[in-house]
Amino acid sequence: MARKYLIETYGCQMNVHDSERMAGLLEQAGFERTDADDDADLVVINTCSVRERAEEKLYSRLGHLKGLHLRTGHAPMVAVTGCVAQQEGAQVLARSKLVDVVIGTQRLKMLPVLVAQAATAPSALVDIATPYDEPTFPLGLTRRDDPVKGFVTIVEGCNDFCTYCVVPYTRGHERMRAKAEILREVVELAAAGRKEVQLLGQIVNHYQAPDDPDCDFAGLLEAVHDVDGIERIRFSSPHPRHCSARMIAALRDLPKVCRHLHLPVQSGSSRILKAMRRRHTRDEYLALVGRLRDALPDIQLSTDMIVGFPGETDQDFDDTMSLTETVRFHNMYSFKYSPRPNTLAAERLPDDVPEAEKTRRIMTLQAAQKHIQANLNASAVGRTVTVLVDTKSRRRSWELAGRTAGNTVVNFPGNPSWLGSTLDVVIERAGAFGVWGRPVSADGRPIAYPLTLQE
Ligand code: SAH
Ligand code: SF4
Ligand code: F3S
Repeated sequence: MARKYLIETYGCQMNVHDSERMAGLLEQAGFERTDADDDADLVVINTCSVRERAEEKLYSRLGHLKGLHLRTGHAPMVAVTGCVAQQEGAQVLARSKLVDVVIGTQRLKMLPVLVAQAATAPSALVDIATPYDEPTFPLGLTRRDDPVKGFVTIVEGCNDFCTYCVVPYTRGHERMRAKAEILREVVELAAAGRKEVQLLGQIVNHYQAPDDPDCDFAGLLEAVHDVDGIERIRFSSPHPRHCSARMIAALRDLPKVCRHLHLPVQSGSSRILKAMRRRHTRDEYLALVGRLRDALPDIQLSTDMIVGFPGETDQDFDDTMSLTETVRFHNMYSFKYSPRPNTLAAERLPDDVPEAEKTRRIMTLQAAQKHIQANLNASAVGRTVTVLVDTKSRRRSWELAGRTAGNTVVNFPGNPSWLGSTLDVVIERAGAFGVWGRPVSADGRPIAYPLTLQE
């Protein structure tokens, strides 16, 4: 009987995609997927270390597996991969005896080999090497979870070293993937019927093709745009300082590129941005938002924000609040500052904003942001929007969801067979995290869906 694997993923989209790659590697090696711990012969924990809370998830997961072992005697092989693995290497073994294999972010191709070797090895195996190779991954191997959208990594690693951020240490130096390989993967996605491609990188818009000196990020967008069958292109994350006029023109001129930009700002205070080494000021960010909105009046923006960075005063936090109110983001991911090993901020700056004050600031910020989102969404009621249907509700068969090009989540009743199709929905109701509507035909008439599907 085939051995079974289970992969548990924490962290960003790149980690989710790495898990899809590892799933492909394991299936090539003869493993089958399972969703139950007590059925798994191999549990892979793909970890994130961006904040302390993310890292702790690894150890609570290992504790959970230990409990399973004590209760039932079932002891699957355990592989720890991803950013905590890269950063802690053999130290992971010191914290848990359950772990058989530790694999860093640049060595995931080794997973099947190391799992096979670990079965007979006298002790756990660790591979966190950081070769300076151009990142590549074999075509056709990735086991993609989403039938409608597909991730394609274009840049791995980061050289920016923002002072709070562990990612340059966990993902290594910035390496660009060959344009030819990226395009082959996009063609593969389209051939499998996927409609949306999502380009991934720590700083996507720093892209420069190693195999084509004339191709920067805007050039890559143009090339991906030419792939037949792909209807939508998204990417994350761009960095404000690399949003060139060429890039903005590409967003404007290429209709498949979605009118949404996730543009992390991190703080509204230039003083804090300097201490973070973000290399953009508040005014430069606001000017960029102005240029984007001039070129693309319907663009929707989202961002990442950190509160309680060392030395953040009430005035600095007020600057974050006023930037939030000024830009009116459609979505925001906000975090309390968490000191991370090796980073400049953790080594040199005291974590001096008290926890209670961090909590107060994040709650204040999130309440204001929720209000802004709710208002922006409410202003869309009555409008007809085009969505790509990407989700079937697990609870109710007739409930579907899709996203607008601007990335608003639209919920509506319909037929599950519509998954992957593009249709118009008239918005009837709005909340802070999405809107609800009814599908309509091109001339605005309601579209029927089978009565048997209604509840
Ligand atoms: N490459 C992306 C960010 C990757 S990390 C970029 O350059 O914008 C995702 C988000 O986690 C960051 O944007 C930041 O808001 C948050 N983050 C990173 N390190 C953090 C830390 N030490 N404490 C709190 N939040 C952090
Ligand atoms: Fe981290 Fe800054 Fe690099 Fe983003 S740009 S991954 S926040 S160091
Ligand atoms: Fe986390 Fe690593 Fe992504 S630290 S956010 S999984 S790059």
